[in-house]
Amino acid sequence: MRTYQGIVDMLQDVMVRAASGEPIAVDKARGFVETVLNRLDVDPATMMSLGRYERYDAFTFGHSIRVAFLALNFARTFVTDEELLHRIGIAAMLHDVGKAWVPFEVLHSTGRLSDEERQQMNRHTEYGGQILLELAGGDPMVVAAAFGHHRTGDGGGYPKTIHEAELSTCTRVVKICDVYEALTAVRPYKDRMSPLRAYRVMMSMKGHFDPFLLWHFIQRNGLYPDGSRVRLSTGDEASVVAQGNRVDRPLVLVDGAGEEEAIDLSTDPAGAVTVDELVAQRSAA
Ligand SMILES: [Fe+2]
Ligand SMILES: [Fe+2]
Repeated sequence: MRTYQGIVDMLQDVMVRAASGEPIAVDKARGFVETVLNRLDVDPATMMSLGRYERYDAFTFGHSIRVAFLALNFARTFVTDEELLHRIGIAAMLHDVGKAWVPFEVLHSTGRLSDEERQQMNRHTEYGGQILLELAGGDPMVVAAAFGHHRTGDGGGYPKTIHEAELSTCTRVVKICDVYEALTAVRPYKDRMSPLRAYRVMMSMKGHFDPFLLWHFIQRNGLYPDGSRVRLSTGDEASVVAQGNRVDRPLVLVDGAGEEEAIDLSTDPAGAVTVDELVAQRSAA
């Protein structure tokens, strides 16, 4: 919770600075990314469930944090370079920083946006690129993610550019996590979508995502993501602690059970292993 609050404060500071054109200290964001990564290593379930802590805010701090958690939890399964992982985390955390320059009334509008307002809102991508380029050291990967996360894999979306520009892997990861988070989050105007429905929607959005990455994201995140609360067929309430070998059968810890009694639902339920073993197995995979 302290980490979470720290990130909210940091993002708030970043937005205020960006809005007034002051330099942004990316080092702070880097420090938080490191903390999140360390926590994800030892206790991904708690970390991911913390990421679901919800209170809507127009500046989308909660959204940015969840996108960063998702991106880091996903990227650490195929990125071994620590430095690269940090940059992906920062890119995810700051992808919507351009909203600092979107007019207040548009950002805080609770009604349907007019075409003109929608266009102003969409400019948060260009603004984000500009802010990160001018005020935050300009890491190309971070700039590109802020600029390109609403562009599609087949050249659609926004902002439009004169020249073709392929999305970087980092931007593709941020894009997947961004849309997944938006679909599965509660907003004043909509209910939460289940992960399964979100995956269906995303798979039907032809040309938007990198199919290979999306497939891996789904496998990694599962139908019951880490930290989810579930009821087993036995009637027991449990928490999902890790993903197993099957996308629909995670590893769970029944309420009140000791840490060593986690159950791998993808295999014989009798084959209990410790949470540490599960996390180690999964990290190895
Ligand atoms: Fe965005
Ligand atoms: Fe976003």
